[in-house]
Amino acid sequence: MWTDNSHRASFKSLENGYRSSVSYTIRWNQELASHGKQLDHAALKGCRFESRQSYCWGCFVIFIVEFRMAEPNEAAAGLRERFDRVREKIETVARRCGREPKEITLVAVSKTHPVSVVREALGVGVTDFGENRVQEAESKIPALRYETARWHLIGHLQANKARRAVRLFDIVHTLDSASLADRLDRACAEEHRAELPILIQVDLAGETTKSGVSATGLSELVKAVTECSRLRFQGLMTLPPFFEDGEQVRPFFRRLRELRDELQVAGHFGDRRGELSMGMSHDFEVATEEGATIVRVGTAIFGERIHKP
Ligand SMILES: Cc1ncc(COP(=O)(O)O)c(C=O)c1O
Repeated sequence: MWTDNSHRASFKSLENGYRSSVSYTIRWNQELASHGKQLDHAALKGCRFESRQSYCWGCFVIFIVEFRMAEPNEAAAGLRERFDRVREKIETVARRCGREPKEITLVAVSKTHPVSVVREALGVGVTDFGENRVQEAESKIPALRYETARWHLIGHLQANKARRAVRLFDIVHTLDSASLADRLDRACAEEHRAELPILIQVDLAGETTKSGVSATGLSELVKAVTECSRLRFQGLMTLPPFFEDGEQVRPFFRRLRELRDELQVAGHFGDRRGELSMGMSHDFEVATEEGATIVRVGTAIFGERIHKP
């Protein structure tokens, strides 16, 4: 059935296709520049013509497929409005607290949502995405490799998936043991990756269902991470107990900030601030008031998650 939304989705997908071809060209230029080479512009003109031709055919095929198959996609519909609303709330709270809104990175938690929805999100200006599982990320991130997005691993990481995580993610929020740090460091060496930004997950409520190092074990883990030559310790992350009332969660956010401040005073972040990854759909405003530098928001941006059987 045709709807206005399906028309919009089709045109949006063409626009995203164009964006990805532009971002691919930019990356290609950067790659050549890093090798001290320049583009052969004469060759490039021909090449562009050919790729434009195949690009047009590609768009035509996508358009026909979407023309026939497009169905209103709940997660994509209204995405722009929801994303803008979350961003505006962060900006309002930040200004009220005397903070610069651009200090706060909004990570859109895309877990369970398909590549098509992530593309929609890129189209409305989302730059950072959060995924919980390595396996799910493997079906998404490579499909979007020509897009300029940053990928955050925000779920528990099993040591046997360390190498795959190193291949996929820009930053890991959930380091919780010295043995995992060691595995990630070795995986970086095997993958020839010079650096992996790391946040340590702290379990502040002692919940058995949650991962994370206890506050008392934190300094020992920090020491272990800083001994890993390829891991870059950048801050702390927490996943507090769920309370409908954001005020009840505030003490957990405050405690994480105090722990970060202690590490900062001890010089662990150099002249950087030390990241604080905290706050989800129902409590990101409280987290922002308490100093979050990264908020991880899923439902408030994408709508309810698609539950897989
Ligand atoms: C670690 C983590 N952070 C953030 C989120 C986003 O939660 P919400 O959809 O409530 O914003 C999730 C969702 O599963 C999560 O696992």
